[in-house]
Amino acid sequence: MDRLRTKFLGKEMSSPLVLPAGVLDISFSSYKSASENGAGLITTKSLTAESRTGHKGPVVTEVEGGMLNCMGLCNPGIEEGVLEIERFRKYSNAPVNVSIFATDEFAFAELAKKVNDTKADFLELNLSCPNVMDEFGVPLSASEKVVTGIISRVKSVSTLPVIAKLSPNVTSFTKIASAAAEAGADALCMINTLGPGIDIDIETGMPVLYNITGGLSGPALKPIALRLIYECRKAGLTLPIIGMGGIITGEDAVQMLMAGADLVGVGTGVYYRGPEIFGKINKEISDFLERKAIDSVGSVNRIV
Ligand SMILES: Cc1cc2nc3c(=O)[nH]c(=O)nc-3n(C[C@H](O)[C@H](O)[C@H](O)COP(=O)(O)O)c2cc1C
Repeated sequence: MDRLRTKFLGKEMSSPLVLPAGVLDISFSSYKSASENGAGLITTKSLTAESRTGHKGPVVTEVEGGMLNCMGLCNPGIEEGVLEIERFRKYSNAPVNVSIFATDEFAFAELAKKVNDTKADFLELNLSCPNVMDEFGVPLSASEKVVTGIISRVKSVSTLPVIAKLSPNVTSFTKIASAAAEAGADALCMINTLGPGIDIDIETGMPVLYNITGGLSGPALKPIALRLIYECRKAGLTLPIIGMGGIITGEDAVQMLMAGADLVGVGTGVYYRGPEIFGKINKEISDFLERKAIDSVGSVNRIV
C-alpha cells in the first residue's frame, strides 16, 4: 500500500482518498469508520454558526446515475461539530478538513477563527451548496467578487490552509477557480453537487423530495468533474485539487488523477459499496499502479 502514500498541503496521507463533506453524519464514529476503511483525509459535514435541523424528509432519492439530496445543511453548529474532531483524534492521526458554511465574508471569518484552536488540519469553505437556494439564493461561488472577498478575509484570520469548494453550476468555472487561487486559496475542492434536480413519483403525482429539488451526486457527475478539473489544469492552475463527483471504482479514481486531481473524494460511492469502498478503491488503484509499474500515486501522468 506504500504506493498510495502521498502528501497534501504538507501533511502525510496514507491514501489519496477523501471522505467529502456531508455524505456521512457528523459523528466521530463515521469519521473513524471512513478512516479505518482506508480514507486518507476526513472532511466534516459543513458546519454553520448555529445548529440547523435541515429540510424535512424525504431528503434523499435515488435516480438514474446517482442521487438527489436536499439535506439543507443540517448540522449541530460549529461549537459542537469541532468537538467531534477531538473525539476522532483519540483513534486516528488522519488529517481532518473542517468544512464551514456561512452567507458572507464576515460570518465565514468568524467561523474560521473558531476552527483555528482545534485539532483540524485544513479549513474548507463550502461556497457551493445548491440545496439551500430557497433560503440563501444562488451558491456563493457563482460570483468571482464574492469568492475573492470570502477567501481573502478568511485567509487573513485563519491559521490553517484554506480549501475552496466550488460549484459546477456556473457559466465560467475556470474564472471562478482562478479568482479563488488569486485570492489566496491553498487548494480547490471540486465539485459540489450539480443542479438542483427534481424526481417525481407518478403514482402520487408528487415530487419525491419534500423540498422538491435536490443536488445531484454520483456517477452522472463524473464526466463533468473530470472536464472541470482538466480545464483548470489547462488554464494553468497549479494549486492542489481534491477531485470528486461519481467516484465508485479504482478506475474512476485514476481518471480523476489523470484529469489533474491530487486527491480523490468518494461520497455517494459509500451508498453504493458501503464504507468498505475506501479499502476497495485503494486496492484497485494499487493494482493499477503495480500493473503499470508506477511507483507512487503522485506519479500518475496527467492528460494535460
Ligand atoms: C447526502 C449528501 C450531503 C452532502 N453534504 C455536503 C455538505 O454538507 N457540504 C458540502 O460541501 N458538500 C456536501 N455534499 C456534496 C459532496 O461533498 C460531494 O461534493 C458531492 O456529493 C459529489 O461527490 P460524490 O458524487 O462522490 O458524492 C453532500 C452530498 C451528499 C450526497
